[in-house]
Amino acid sequence: MPTIHVTGRDGEEKAVSVDAGISVMEAIRDNGFDELLALCGGCCSCATCHVHVAADWKEKLPEMSEDEDDLLESSDHRDEFSRLSCQIEVSDELDGLKVRIAEED
Ligand code: FES
Repeated sequence: MPTIHVTGRDGEEKAVSVDAGISVMEAIRDNGFDELLALCGGCCSCATCHVHVAADWKEKLPEMSEDEDDLLESSDHRDEFSRLSCQIEVSDELDGLKVRIAEED
């Protein structure tokens, strides 16, 4: 069971162990982080699942699609570590991933 380290907007970090195959968004939302709205339910059309990934994880994640890239452009808080968490699937390779929930747009 991969473990993901999530930092909420209050700065608190929590380690969550989740099944491989779900999205990072689901892993966050299902573990008590209410501030991750994920309004579109994971179909890449809202950008309310925006997270910043830790620098050393950036290159280990699958490349973002054009749709994800376009959608992130709508955020005032985008940086080089921004991803939409619904577009990242949890796998054993991502064990130890660190993400921080992005500021609210
Ligand atoms: S949940 Fe809407 S884009 Fe990720």
